[in-house]
Amino acid sequence: MTGRRERKRMDLADAAESLAQARRLVVFTGAGMSAESGIATFRDAGTGLWARFDPRTLATPEAFRADPALVWGWYEWRRAAVRRAEPNPGHLAVAAMAARVPETVVITQNVDDLHERAGSAAPVHLHGSLFAPRCSACAAPAPVPDGAAEPGEGRRLAPPRCGRCAAPVRPGVVWFGEALPERALEAAVEAAYRCDVLLTVGTSGLVYPAAEIPQVAARRGGTVIQVNPEETPLDAVCALNLRGPAAVVLPALVRAAWGDAVPA
Ligand code: APR
Repeated sequence: MTGRRERKRMDLADAAESLAQARRLVVFTGAGMSAESGIATFRDAGTGLWARFDPRTLATPEAFRADPALVWGWYEWRRAAVRRAEPNPGHLAVAAMAARVPETVVITQNVDDLHERAGSAAPVHLHGSLFAPRCSACAAPAPVPDGAAEPGEGRRLAPPRCGRCAAPVRPGVVWFGEALPERALEAAVEAAYRCDVLLTVGTSGLVYPAAEIPQVAARRGGTVIQVNPEETPLDAVCALNLRGPAAVVLPALVRAAWGDAVPA
């Protein structure tokens, strides 16, 4: 076995050992977690959403004020893609970890519902959700559209009106320049502060304050383990960097830690 493959095998074994001994686990995920479910990431070269679309015209409060139909249409297009997608073995492995480790908190930057559909109870959504629209003026929760009016890519779709104040309804996601939901951020920082193991999966670690979460755990002496095919700025705070796709590495980790099989 080549040195590199042997290194990989040993890193996976070490990570599995940490996982098997964990009492308080945090699983922190980004767009790479859902990539193998067919959901585009943001910054992957060529395929990432920000390589194809301009976040200044789609993902800021100003963009929504300037052209609500363009923005609403884009998020409805993304929500339709999520509805067609299925959780991948990586999502299932995360749910399996929670069944094994007494205290597990899933913290995600993703606005899809694939963790929930894989069986993870109450993941903390730091950047909101595509399934929690609200009024852009009075913040009243709005019903999730049934998706009948599924717009094609780049198509405009007028947002519904708030049932309480008739202002346009906006997607329930966090846009650039907006603060994260306070309670979610507090819960995430506290979980990172208290955990003994944190898995960071499929995030470039470039967007703050979310990217601070693995660093909080590392500063507190927690074992931070990264799952990502590529290097990221988080490498420096990780005890182990497992280079590979989430839907392959996470089931392998569960198998190595507890012998459990995760459905493929
Ligand atoms: N498995 C694991 N990781 C993967 C996979 C995969 N199959 N495919 C890609 N990745 C990795 C990439 O190497 C990259 O490091 O996932 C990461 C995705 O990074 P981004 O696209 O930057 O996504 P993320 O880190 O979640 O972005 C953070 O930025 O645009 C905002 O609000 C948006 O929540 C998002 C935030």
